[in-house]
Amino acid sequence: MAERIFVAVAWPYANGPRHLGHVAGMGTSDVFARYHRLRNNDVLMVSGTDENGTPNLIQADREGLTPKQTVDKYNRVITDDFRALAFSYDLFTRTTTRNHTVVVQDVFKTLYDKGYLIKKTAMGALQAATGRTLPDRYIEGTCPICGFPDARGDQCENCGNQLDPDQLINPRSKIDGSTPVFKETEHFYLDLPAFREQLTTWVARQSHWRPNVRNFSLNFIADLKPRPITRDIDWGVPVPLPGWVDRPDKRLYVWFDAVIGYFSASVEWAAMVGRPDAWRDWWQDPASRHFYFMGADNIVFHTTIWPSMLLGYGNGGKVAGARGPNLQLPYNVVSTAMLTMSGSKQSTSRGHGIYVRDFLSRYDADPLRFYLVLNGPETADTDFTWEDFVRRNNDELVATWGNLANRTLVNAHRQFGAVPTAGDLTSEDRAVVASVEAGFGSVGEHLEAARFRAALAEAMRLAALVNGYLTATEPWKLVKTDRERAGTILNVALRCVDDLKVILTPFLPFSSQKLHEYLGYDGAVASPPERRTVREADGSDHEVLTGDYSTLVGTWAPTTLRAGQKLREPGPLFKKLDPSVVDDELRRMEDHAAK
Ligand code: MF3
Ligand code: ZN
Repeated sequence: MAERIFVAVAWPYANGPRHLGHVAGMGTSDVFARYHRLRNNDVLMVSGTDENGTPNLIQADREGLTPKQTVDKYNRVITDDFRALAFSYDLFTRTTTRNHTVVVQDVFKTLYDKGYLIKKTAMGALQAATGRTLPDRYIEGTCPICGFPDARGDQCENCGNQLDPDQLINPRSKIDGSTPVFKETEHFYLDLPAFREQLTTWVARQSHWRPNVRNFSLNFIADLKPRPITRDIDWGVPVPLPGWVDRPDKRLYVWFDAVIGYFSASVEWAAMVGRPDAWRDWWQDPASRHFYFMGADNIVFHTTIWPSMLLGYGNGGKVAGARGPNLQLPYNVVSTAMLTMSGSKQSTSRGHGIYVRDFLSRYDADPLRFYLVLNGPETADTDFTWEDFVRRNNDELVATWGNLANRTLVNAHRQFGAVPTAGDLTSEDRAVVASVEAGFGSVGEHLEAARFRAALAEAMRLAALVNGYLTATEPWKLVKTDRERAGTILNVALRCVDDLKVILTPFLPFSSQKLHEYLGYDGAVASPPERRTVREADGSDHEVLTGDYSTLVGTWAPTTLRAGQKLREPGPLFKKLDPSVVDDELRRMEDHAAK
């Protein structure tokens, strides 16, 4: 029976182009979605650009643009990047849409009506020049405990103590160096302690979570405090209460609105496909499973804060209409560590790192996707190096999978023009077919458990096995003396290649599509998302990424390739890279850094 799988991918701030570090973990969410679609499960995969709040404002100031110009610019850049990588979102939208505002305000109002929001006056730090909230991590000063001169407003990295920004000696804004103004300011706080028991019981039961995610969350929950969810800022979702909604200086906290994006995007998607209640299939089916993908610094928002908001909302509010079961909590929270560049963090703000669009102007998307799964920061930080990229491309992708697909297809096409008929199978023939067919189970099991690296390594092991079979049987020589036996071997190899094509589709969508065509099939096994314009109830437009993946062909099951199927003229799936690429790229990075 088809399962309902919700794939929720962290929303990138619309404050810069994506670099490899940003997309390292996201690639695995697409692998996951594509795998489940091949299993014929009902997948809904959503995300969008996170366009409110301080991070986008800082970028706007830096570029001398308005916030709106900034988020428009980078929404376009980011969606270009994601299209080029073929991230198959059902909906990739934005948080500045009318729909998002309506849903966010509904969640806020519902939490407020149910008594989960507390109004409090507290000391807050404001940026002197603008009067905007200066978030704790944007304040630096001398640690009052150990004297470390660069302690952050939330914590001293030197002695590890938690701090409040007004404890810092000589506090300064990291944005412009000015001294922050501390003043009394009124805000709404989410009453997280009200959910402590429910959260503890729930997280304790999640034995399938990665241990670091579960332990980190349990520790965090043990020490929960109410958390402010409004800010002194003029860019964001207005606070939907009388006396607040028209204030130009108060907005909802960006993290509060962003996590609601998972829900609002589902609602938007349902309206877009003309079935306005379809979001309920994922959010209110107790058997539906929700998988969240994000960086490690986002864990608490997904395991604690968002689940608290969901528990508080229940099935209430105008959007859900107090109808049906409560909204689903996350089933798994898959976090990735950091991809470093020879040891240093890739950060947009430091402008350091490799941009996706630059990378893809010189190399194809599949080798990058391949690299990021095999050497991505799945459970611990990993380091990107050009040597390693070239080596994995040449020695693994090209030499193993590319070579297998290529020599099988070239020989079959040249000698037979179609899938040759198989005679009696030898035990070697049967063994290689059985091993590859078992891959649907073994690779699938890894993917179910979000072990992407192990899944791809297993698929590559099978490709190597089939390569060994061909090297041992040499059908290209045999064809001169025993055409029938050569035909049998190529039939077996073509079936294995067809199976591996399916198994590798989630990882390598572009080359699996090419291979699908070389094998003589019609239709698409994979396609990148498309742009589409959504018109909202108030007449405004915005662009999204979407796709109708229900038209894709391919099933996570052994091939039914038939003898006689005409093959198309094959070409190479991948390019071997010259080792000089490494020096070229290092020089390019030095030039760039010098500018
Ligand atoms: N924009 C945040 C970041 O880049 C992630 C937001 S995830 C969301 O760290 F789900 F809350 F949107
Ligand atoms: Zn200290």
